[in-house]
Amino acid sequence: MTALSHGAGEPPRPGSASVPGSASVPGSASVPGSAAVPGPTSVPGSAALPGSAAVPGTATDPGAGTAPGVRVRDLTVVYKTPLGELPALGGVSLTIAPGTVTGIVGESGSGKSTLALSLLNAVQPPGRIAGGSVEIDGLGNVVDLGGDRLRRARGRHLGYVFQAAQNSLNPLKTVGKQLLDLGRSHEVDDLPALVRDAKDLLERMGLDGARVLDSHQHELSGGMRQRVGIMLALVLNARLVILDEPTTALDMITQATILRIVREIHDERGLTTLMVTHDMGVAAEVTDRLAVMYGGRVVEHGRTMEVLGSPAHPYTRALITAIPRLSGDTGQSRALPGRPPTLGTLPARGCVFQERCPLRMDICTTVEPPSITENGRTVACHAVEAPMTAERRKEHA
Ligand SMILES: Nc1ncnc2c1ncn2[C@@H]1O[C@H](COP(=O)(O)OP(=O)(O)OP(=O)(O)O)[C@@H](O)[C@H]1O
Ligand code: SF4
Ligand SMILES: [Mg+2]
Repeated sequence: MTALSHGAGEPPRPGSASVPGSASVPGSASVPGSAAVPGPTSVPGSAALPGSAAVPGTATDPGAGTAPGVRVRDLTVVYKTPLGELPALGGVSLTIAPGTVTGIVGESGSGKSTLALSLLNAVQPPGRIAGGSVEIDGLGNVVDLGGDRLRRARGRHLGYVFQAAQNSLNPLKTVGKQLLDLGRSHEVDDLPALVRDAKDLLERMGLDGARVLDSHQHELSGGMRQRVGIMLALVLNARLVILDEPTTALDMITQATILRIVREIHDERGLTTLMVTHDMGVAAEVTDRLAVMYGGRVVEHGRTMEVLGSPAHPYTRALITAIPRLSGDTGQSRALPGRPPTLGTLPARGCVFQERCPLRMDICTTVEPPSITENGRTVACHAVEAPMTAERRKEHA
């Protein structure tokens, strides 16, 4: 895969070389009910969220802000179930540096969408944020925002593609009409410029912009609708963009192409981007940093190439080993044994990965491992005393 140009001062861009093949996280399936955020917009379930904030100048006014950093601290999100309220996120902490693309990977049900929605304070009943904070530069703690302030914040700062956004366009209106509704709801002054920008974005993603804007949802394929969702998330020029599996309806090659384009736009506009994906190959190519989730925790987080090149957490190692290889020793991939936990089957004490972990010790069944950070690498595992970067490993060899 072609390496992309890289902005000065950013962390080194990962390539895909050290990731065998390109494959999905095993055992993945979509979890219904985690996407739509109600609001007054007529563009449901996709794009910059509804709000009344004025977007200064045109839709692509580059002065709309700078890339924000995000600090998630001890975030707990629970869902009401027949067994009571159970945690889908159990005290997640994660720092997202301004200007980076951070990938979130992990098996189905690990909490990726719940975390993404929490960044917009958009977890819907039967879920709720039960504790912790999400500080976004320029916005403050979004957990404390509500009503108009929250809607304004979303419109001005946050672009979002929901999981399964391809199914959530308004079937009764053309894409162009929905775009104009979106522009009006955000008080965009120059609607013709908004339409021009939308066409440009669609054409960069390989579509006939004018035709797509004239089309209704049913006239577009799933992959085309996903690209419309990405366009809607980018067209208002939000500086924090959150993409939850934005390309799952596309074939692998188109998927990689679209995500490269998203990366290019990220670099051109100076965004902060969070990208949820099941695909480790995609994550390797387009992300700067990678957070690995399991059982509602971030179990490992660091520079993408370091996490993939020398995974420290047993779960990250198992995930990487489970990727089918397309070259080299093709017999080497091993499926991850067991199943990921559900809300009802998470261990009540100790490490969330204990039931599948080959390194489990006695302490793992009673004490939850703390997250330890060293040199920009965070790992939560009793068997990993201090995560080491590849360079430090060499130094110690
Ligand atoms: N509306 C809901 N009601 C009850 N439980 C929910 C709801 N939404 C999500 N969950 C549960 O919360 C946990 C985290 O779900 P989430 O959708 O965040 O996972 P995910 O990592 O995005 O999964 P996927 O890869 O399948 O999209 C799962 O156990 C899921 O079953
Ligand atoms: S804390 Fe224990 S059970 Fe959990 S991943 Fe580490 S070694 Fe395995
Ligand atoms: Mg999800």
